[in-house]
Amino acid sequence: MRRLLLLGLSAFCLCAFVAADEHREGQGATSLPEEDGVLQLNEGDFKRALRKYKQLLVHFYAPLSAESHRVSAAFKGAAAELEGSEVKLAVIDVTEEKELAKDLNAKGPPIIRLYLGGDKQNPVPCPDPVSAASILTWLKRRAGSAADLITDRSLSEFSEELTVVGFFKELDHEYVQVFYSAAMDLPDVSFAVTQNNEVISEYGLTHDVVLLLKKSKLIQAYKMMPQTSKEELIVFITVYQMDPVTEYTGKTANQILGSPVLNHALLFVNESSADFREIHSAFNSAAGAFRLKILFVWVNVYEPRNGRMMEYFRVRDFEAPIIRLVNLTDHVTYHLPSDSLDVETIKTFCQSYLEGKAKPKLQSEPAPEGWDTRPVQELVGMTLEKVAFHPNKTVFVMFYLPYSQESQALFPLLEELAEALKEREDVVVARIDASANDIDLTMQGRYPSLGLFPALYAERMVVYKGKMKDRVKEDEDRKKYIEAAIAEDAKNADKTKEEL
Ligand SMILES: *[C@@H]1O[C@H](CO)[C@@H](O)[C@H](O)[C@H]1NC(C)=O
Ligand SMILES: *[C@@H]1O[C@H](CO)[C@@H](O)[C@H](O)[C@H]1NC(C)=O
Ligand SMILES: *[C@@H]1O[C@H](CO)[C@@H](O)[C@H](O)[C@H]1NC(C)=O
Repeated sequence: MRRLLLLGLSAFCLCAFVAADEHREGQGATSLPEEDGVLQLNEGDFKRALRKYKQLLVHFYAPLSAESHRVSAAFKGAAAELEGSEVKLAVIDVTEEKELAKDLNAKGPPIIRLYLGGDKQNPVPCPDPVSAASILTWLKRRAGSAADLITDRSLSEFSEELTVVGFFKELDHEYVQVFYSAAMDLPDVSFAVTQNNEVISEYGLTHDVVLLLKKSKLIQAYKMMPQTSKEELIVFITVYQMDPVTEYTGKTANQILGSPVLNHALLFVNESSADFREIHSAFNSAAGAFRLKILFVWVNVYEPRNGRMMEYFRVRDFEAPIIRLVNLTDHVTYHLPSDSLDVETIKTFCQSYLEGKAKPKLQSEPAPEGWDTRPVQELVGMTLEKVAFHPNKTVFVMFYLPYSQESQALFPLLEELAEALKEREDVVVARIDASANDIDLTMQGRYPSLGLFPALYAERMVVYKGKMKDRVKEDEDRKKYIEAAIAEDAKNADKTKEEL
């Protein structure tokens, strides 16, 4: 009964407070425009709102951006929960209020800022919210103190998807403050502080350690050091919060791109292929050793929605399984030069990349010296089209992977072919390293691959089909193939002439 009375009383106070506010407002100008409990501000209104509300949480939004839509939904939900509280929510359309946005330096992230005590200059950035709950937790943690996190739950009682538990000897230590400021920046993760000694006995750990639990299971421990910063702690949490290997999907894309780890290893693989399990498992085993350095992601090439991702990395589905490393700081990509994707190969590649020894994948290698005077011309990305599309020459090109045995087995045969055809001025035999050069031709099948570019219809490639190795091996057959193609070409040329 007593509690009820108290509740009634505080409700009354709140009403009185709001009424007083409105009264003051009524004397001067009209009230501020509002929708679903969220102020809709322009330049003049912003100044008034700043004077009126001690805590003004502003969302700077651009109506057409997907991010703004997500944040708007979270904002509306939070507004409903915060009605009558000290915090007032507001939005400013940055596409309309350009001057104001410029004045407030609100063109980029963070797109939510908390203005305190009417101070226009120093708003507090609010982390990008996933939901209304993110905003509410952030406000609560901001207003509270580290003491709010103290719990006497035992580890087995943390059933949340992810809990970060700080185990500290002294609660007034700086460590706790660092821990608490990390909690503020990660409102979607649950945090707790404990002094329960069960932790020590269970895991044999000492004090001042941060534990990451997934559904009560210990994932990783982090020892706090005097120099540990909030940022380091956040990196640790955001990295270990993800599994060692993450599948790239619409859902995980934000988490992957938002990761503080700026080196990504990408495995492009067909999930339905027979060797998927084995390759995925090797990738997963290699990932463990690089947790804070390289983020491991796999992309299903059999998923049409990943088309753009593959286009970006210039990976074609038949090239899978294939591993690329990308440095997100300078956007240089690296190609794992191997046929077999086992744990050791992947680890060695990642290590050599970190040591700066890996060879970047370029759009084109530089053309090697004397490339066009060799019996088998050595083409690169930038010479391929010029040579292959020559209007007066029939060009036979082998697309190879230098590290592949299958490719290597064909090198002598190609030399022999070049020797056999060396008298023919109108025929060129060439090869190109498909792992080091981007090749802008739609090719069927995997490497090594052989293609003929007939003289007249040079921009059309005739792919050498069938059991390539067996057919190329037969000297006679090989010659016949080329001769036939040239004859066919000549016939077409004559036909075109007649038509003209
Ligand atoms: C993926 O593998 C399945 C099963 O082997 C196959 O049918 C499909 O064509 C493959 N897709 C691609 C894009 O390689
Ligand atoms: C990634 O690129 C940045 C900027 O060029 C460079 O400083 C850094 O060393 C690169 N990282 C690796 C692992 O190569
Ligand atoms: C191709 O041959 C024609 C006729 O002989 C000649 O005019 C033309 O210049 C040649 N094209 C090239 C690129 O050599």
